[in-house]
Amino acid sequence: MIIEPRMRGFICTTSHPKGCEQNVKNQIDYINSKGIIEGAKKVLVIGASTGFGLASRITSAFGCNAATIGVFFEKEPSEGKTASPGWYNSAAFEDEAHKVGLYAKSINGDAFSKEIKKQTLELIKADLGQVDLVIYSLASPVRMNPETGILHRSTLKPIGDVFTNKTVDFHSGKVSEISIQPSSGDDIENTVAVMGGEDWMMWIEALKAENLLATGATTVAYSYIGPSLTEAVYRKGTIGRAKDHLEATAFAITDSLKAIDGKAYVSVNKALVTQASSAIPVIPLYISLLYKIMKEEGIHEGCIEQIQRLYQERLYTGNKVPVDEKGRIRVDDLEMRPDVQAKIAQLWAEAVTENLAELGDLEGYRKDFYNLFGFDVDGVDYKIEADEMVNIDSIA
Ligand code: NAD
Ligand code: NA
Repeated sequence: MIIEPRMRGFICTTSHPKGCEQNVKNQIDYINSKGIIEGAKKVLVIGASTGFGLASRITSAFGCNAATIGVFFEKEPSEGKTASPGWYNSAAFEDEAHKVGLYAKSINGDAFSKEIKKQTLELIKADLGQVDLVIYSLASPVRMNPETGILHRSTLKPIGDVFTNKTVDFHSGKVSEISIQPSSGDDIENTVAVMGGEDWMMWIEALKAENLLATGATTVAYSYIGPSLTEAVYRKGTIGRAKDHLEATAFAITDSLKAIDGKAYVSVNKALVTQASSAIPVIPLYISLLYKIMKEEGIHEGCIEQIQRLYQERLYTGNKVPVDEKGRIRVDDLEMRPDVQAKIAQLWAEAVTENLAELGDLEGYRKDFYNLFGFDVDGVDYKIEADEMVNIDSIA
């Protein structure tokens, strides 16, 4: 069928298989152009189908020649209804991996559940024996705690005071002022329960208990800090508390992996357009200014450039992994450069509806947003009928 983007609020409810495939191929080409990374050999990626997790899977496979198992939660296609983009991404990834003889299998289901963990452990046991790298890259609005049965919902709220600032509707380009009410009740605890480190720890404990982690195994989860402009709603808001918890969990995991000389890291990555970040007020305006400046400076990166750098220049250099004063890996270094941030602060003050298309990279923002769903991808002919019924080799 002919597949077009269909928007509902801030999300797109359709996705294009050919566009998703092209996105994956472009990322693979990028990794191939950068050469071999002596690193991981058997990798589990939790949250492997989009964003930073997909980039991690591609870098592991095509950069390190690693076998990969990917866990994700995606909607499969049905006749006349497209799958979610992560489904098509994973199908394309497996095809490309299998073409060059790389092991790649996927598990589609709720990574927070005991069932999916058990299924994953059994697959590792049967096919890989052990893994030497575990990437934890989940982004979810809800989590059912498998021990208590409680369903937690995360929120994106400031803590303490109402936060008022500028924001942009990136579809219309309209800049307006927005006020976000502070958290109340169990908002903080719930957000920590969803996006903090508890589930990461559960995964590592489960793998360890079955002796599925190789000696010297590494595990990495992703975090964000960002500038003072977005601090109230991000790093000092409810989501920031969850990231604090995630970062603290890295130390707890490293302690629990002493016997096998394992290490847990949090990598702080740069701000990028994803389904999640588009829904956070204020962030799209920040990202559109950030993109503009980083492109002008020739230092713009997407997920794949970020993760390639994480592997080649941080994790697998052959030397000690460089970390900041809080033990975190930083690949947000270019975003946080003082000259970049000073320019954003200046543009931020000037930005209004009438000049934002000039001051910021609204067009780049929109393109990246549509690209997430496989639309507006260069080289794809959208006038040609596409088959929505795409299988993932290892699942179908
Ligand atoms: P994303 O939405 O692109 O990817 C999320 C992944 O998690 C997908 O593979 C999805 O299928 C999977 N997933 C969600 N719920 C699941 C569940 N219940 N069971 C199994 N899989 C599930 O998100 P992203 O932007 O790549 O974020 C990944 C991590 O990177 C997050 O921790 C995020 O905070 C962090 N991060 C994001 C940014 C940014 O700007 N986007 C910046 C720095 C750090
Ligand atoms: Na991801």
